Amino acid sequence: MFLQELTGRNKAEVPGASLPKDTPFFLEQFKALRAKIDDLLDKEVCKTLAVTSSIAEEGKTITCINLAMNMAYTGRRKVLLVDTDMRKSDIARGMNLNPIPGLSEFLSGAVKITDVIKNSKVPGLYVISSGACPPSPADVLAGESFRQFIQSSREHFDLVLLDTPPVLPVADTHSLREQVDGFLLVYRAGHTPYPILKQVIEDISEEKILGVVINRVKPRTDKYYRKYYSKYYNK
Ligand SMILES: Nc1ncnc2c1ncn2[C@@H]1O[C@H](COP(=O)(O)OP(=O)(O)OP(=O)(O)O)[C@@H](O)[C@H]1O
Ligand SMILES: [Mg+2]
Repeated sequence: MFLQELTGRNKAEVPGASLPKDTPFFLEQFKALRAKIDDLLDKEVCKTLAVTSSIAEEGKTITCINLAMNMAYTGRRKVLLVDTDMRKSDIARGMNLNPIPGLSEFLSGAVKITDVIKNSKVPGLYVISSGACPPSPADVLAGESFRQFIQSSREHFDLVLLDTPPVLPVADTHSLREQVDGFLLVYRAGHTPYPILKQVIEDISEEKILGVVINRVKPRTDKYYRKYYSKYYNK
């Protein structure tokens, strides 16, 4: 799937629900992605899906938030969005939620699950923020508490979507590899060198990758979009 480069975004902007209104092509792609994920859910290919990328800032969090909201919008699926990137807490910032208490506090036994599952503005979409960063997030995600948390989330939700750290710089995403049914790999076009992408595909293994999102694709020209999309879109 291809996601268009959005213009006028501030570099430090948190990728949240508040996308500019003039992004119909970008938003439309999430409905196409939803149809693909719906198909995987119907065929019971996956229930726990981790969104990851090779390196930082490829668009994992923006993809996670928009996909989770679109999956819940239809009313067909109960969705749990979990921020496993304990180093950044971007899901909480992007969705205007408190990062603490979150996943790390629950996994350490400090709080109950009901203390960390937060309602979002979209009915059917529930969110668990990352919590405070523990000394070794990779150890926490490799632990028995996390394994049990995923098992129990599978029983209560139709889709468990995990936002993860990038694969190459830290070991966190490797740690949760065995707990998820598959990965959605986000690739930032024109930015991440291809050999790095190839290495990450080998690292997580190709059969675990259920799809690739190519993000920040620059439209060749406005004319290109008008010719192939706008006429129909504006009908
Ligand atoms: N298609 C796009 N067009 C313009 N800006 C984008 C696009 N996708 C993401 N961004 C911006 O790029 C930045 C990084 O996006 P995001 O936080 O989703 O990436 P990430 O992979 O989760 O990063 P990190 O590895 O740091 O967690 C954000 O400021 C976001 O708003
Ligand atoms: Mg992120």
